[in-house]
Amino acid sequence: MVEVSTSILSVKKGEESKTFFALEASKTDYFHIDVMDGKFVEKDTYQKMLEYASYIRRISNAPLDVHLMVKDIKKAIDDYSAVEPNIITFHLEACKDEQEVLEIIHYIKENHCKVGIAVKPETDIKEVYKYLPYIHMCLVMTVEPGKGGQTYLSDMTEKVKTLKTYMDENHLEMDIEVDGGINLRTAPEVKKAGANILVAGTAILNAVDYKVIIDELKMEV
Ligand code: DX5
Ligand code: ZN
Repeated sequence: MVEVSTSILSVKKGEESKTFFALEASKTDYFHIDVMDGKFVEKDTYQKMLEYASYIRRISNAPLDVHLMVKDIKKAIDDYSAVEPNIITFHLEACKDEQEVLEIIHYIKENHCKVGIAVKPETDIKEVYKYLPYIHMCLVMTVEPGKGGQTYLSDMTEKVKTLKTYMDENHLEMDIEVDGGINLRTAPEVKKAGANILVAGTAILNAVDYKVIIDELKMEV
């Protein structure tokens, strides 16, 4: 089954209430919360996303899929636990060593939350293999993290395929999420490659009818 996680990164202040209600009604499977700290990436969305996530938590039962693009991961986990995320994903590149990665996995699980690890486009997917038995999701970034509205990096299709093949060969069950530049043109190839959770911001928020595009993104290939 393919699921859609709508990135609310570019929802403007003042439009959040009508947008979130419409997304909920259009059956987005998750709300994707892009947390940026101005250090791991240039932009800082830390407070805005915390406000948006708390608001969504009050009006919707849809799960919150929190994508941490931050250096201080533990602090962000502490701050964002308040909105009861269903899954927290952190970047492998933000950790200094293996021990830190394992500590963070454990820390997120102690917060009764699913764990995801994200990898930037230039990171070799093999770097994540040793953690797969302990996590619920791997997020393959299909653009450079930092902003919405970028173009899908077509080399990432092969990366998703490699990960999917490795998972199948090793009987690992886990979600593969892709994030960045996903739209109706790029979705079929990532789905075929093995991704089962598609993050989309621009493609959904710019559509006339959220339900139509969400349904099409979810369609099996
Ligand atoms: C990029 C973010 C993405 C992005 C998705 O750093 O992680 O979630 O905003 O937006 P689109 O769909 O516009 O590429
Ligand atoms: Zn994201």
